[in-house]
Amino acid sequence: MKLISKTIAILAVAAFLATPVLGAEGGNPKKGKYLYKKNCKTCHVAGAEGGALTPLSKTQSQWDRFFKKNKHKAKPEIWGKYSEKDLKDINQFLFDHAADSDQPETCG
Ligand code: HEC
Repeated sequence: MKLISKTIAILAVAAFLATPVLGAEGGNPKKGKYLYKKNCKTCHVAGAEGGALTPLSKTQSQWDRFFKKNKHKAKPEIWGKYSEKDLKDINQFLFDHAADSDQPETCG
């Protein structure tokens, strides 16, 4: 039983790592969505410290500018917690579902 759950866990991790890298910017939007929900939504829902924020809150160019220039100026220490790869993935997710994207979407 223990071995089976261990095998499943290893397969799940392998499948996660094998997810192809997609998107205009080279980030992985699926991983970005997961990371966004896990890391950003803690502060970015209505009533929380950062206020409500969804992919729809900005346009594609505004998202790119935020990740390239602003870098979470409101709380710079946040950015230091994530790898460049993670930020690229989050940027990709937000970009892909921005207000002026093909598939505008709120987050979950
Ligand atoms: C510890 C809490 C916290 C976390 C975690 C956090 N933020 Fe923030 N964020 C804030 C606060 C506080 C502000 C400033 C809000 C304001 O000025 O009203 C802010 C502002 C922002 C803004 C600017 C909002 C605007 O209107 O232009 C964006 C975009 C943003 N955060 C994105 C993110 C992303 C993406 C993540 C995850 C990688 C994240 N934040 C994680 C607290 C947080």
